[in-house]
Amino acid sequence: MTAPALLDQIRESGAVPRHVAIIMDGNGRWARERMLPRPLGHRSGMKSVREVVEASLEAGIEVLSLFAFSQENWQRPPVEINALMSLLEEYIQKEADDLEEQGVRVRVLGETERLAPAAREAVARVTQQTAHNRKLTLNLFISYGSRAEIVRAARRVAEEVQAGTLRPEQVDEAAISARLYTADCPDPDLLIRTSGEQRISNFLLWQLAYTELHISPVLWPDFGRSNLFEAILDYQNRDRRFGRVPV
Ligand code: IPE
Ligand code: IPE
Ligand code: MG
Repeated sequence: MTAPALLDQIRESGAVPRHVAIIMDGNGRWARERMLPRPLGHRSGMKSVREVVEASLEAGIEVLSLFAFSQENWQRPPVEINALMSLLEEYIQKEADDLEEQGVRVRVLGETERLAPAAREAVARVTQQTAHNRKLTLNLFISYGSRAEIVRAARRVAEEVQAGTLRPEQVDEAAISARLYTADCPDPDLLIRTSGEQRISNFLLWQLAYTELHISPVLWPDFGRSNLFEAILDYQNRDRRFGRVPV
């Protein structure tokens, strides 16, 4: 089915997920299949990012969270890390104006202190430039690890309790959620992982408690509009029970 036909079907099927999260995986394998160096796989994955952002706007998704670089990814060879950081800067440079015009609010979530100064500046620029936008929030998770995020939230809670601004009995689920990077976002309704891997890889462990999972065999550089729309249709056919009995 073509992308416009899939979009029509989505509109007929009812509510779209408010928040879609994607583990963008398979760039390296895409490159290897073509006997290309891995960084070219990452470069090719940039056009998938562009397409998925446009498709999210078309479908009416409110929040798109993309896992671009994990804390564990710092253990990759320096040439690959450098290539990924340059691509981040290039993406921001090339896309910032379009994103701004399309009504996209861009944020970079993770331990951004670890990024090189040039990358940090690019991040600060696009964050500021698009801060007023509300059509779509694009969360780019970079240097992100979910366990570290939870530890950071727990440390903040401990500090506030010690300072006397928070009482132990006020520490509940909402108190933790409010201290995560995603504090102002609803939990993801749909998580997509590309390249067929069936694991979470330390992404949004807290927030994914009741998220629907969609594993796509497609490698990230080949993932486009139609693949996103198919994942949304798959989501629309799920029966979300949240532990209750079916209605
Ligand atoms: C995903 O592609 C991008 C990042 C993790 C940065 P990979 O680089 O993990 O590609 P594979 O899994 O080796 O194919
Ligand atoms: C997860 O992919 C991280 C990102 C997509 C940024 P990885 O390729 O790093 O995950 P593993 O190593 O296969 O679990
Ligand atoms: Mg991978």
